[in-house]
Amino acid sequence: MFKINNVNLIYDLKKESQTYALKGISLKLEKEKFYGILGPSGSGKSSLLYILSALKKPTSGEVYYHEQLLNNIGNEKLAQLRKQDFGFIFQKHFLINYLNILQNVLVPVNSSEVKYVNRAKTILNELGLSAHIYKKPYQLSGGQCQRVAIARALINHPKVIFADEITASLDHKSAKKAMKVIDKYRDGATLIVVTHDPSILKEADEIIHIWDGEVKDKKEIGD
Ligand SMILES: Nc1ncnc2c1ncn2[C@@H]1O[C@H](COP(=O)(O)OP(=O)(O)O)[C@@H](O)[C@H]1O
Ligand SMILES: [Mg+2]
Repeated sequence: MFKINNVNLIYDLKKESQTYALKGISLKLEKEKFYGILGPSGSGKSSLLYILSALKKPTSGEVYYHEQLLNNIGNEKLAQLRKQDFGFIFQKHFLINYLNILQNVLVPVNSSEVKYVNRAKTILNELGLSAHIYKKPYQLSGGQCQRVAIARALINHPKVIFADEITASLDHKSAKKAMKVIDKYRDGATLIVVTHDPSILKEADEIIHIWDGEVKDKKEIGD
């Protein structure tokens, strides 16, 4: 589903602040699997997620989604692809403050058809938010908003779900519950979860260890 070949990502190229975020990364990700991307802060996890989802273009190297080379696709087409195929959950939830919780979850489908409303309510219920669906985001805690963002990413049956440090604002029990709900409602979507917390990757099919911009063998980092 994804194939990346020898990808390098350099921020602030040729400036004093130049940072080598990703160094010669090659990976293949298969569809329907759950991948964890694990590494310490600053190791390049978010950068790798941005490369896979084409939110950033690599400085060099190729990124394929299915057979399609993403490097040279125009921004409009990329935006279309992301809207159609990808679901995103970021550490910052980006909810819309003047919409209620239910309306926020329905944003990706842009519809209040009964089938979507029912799916939204079901997922919100599983995330423990059924009492809050007509409230506005500012009436909820950070952790509750994060769970709303999870429901929003699942509403439209994406083919790939990208999740970046989504459990940072959740206590351990809610984090595990949130991971269970994502796994239950992803309906065969490829799931790519970036985290520094291995305990939420118990169900992962594969864990990619990243260290200082490089993918490491488990043995190399000695755990
Ligand atoms: N927009 C940016 N501009 C410059 N440097 C950046 C930018 N984003 C990240 N970096 C640097 O790239 C490296 C990898 O960052 P990142 O991918 O965010 O790591 P992680 O998600 O694992 O914490 C770090 O050294 C970070 O400081
Ligand atoms: Mg990060």
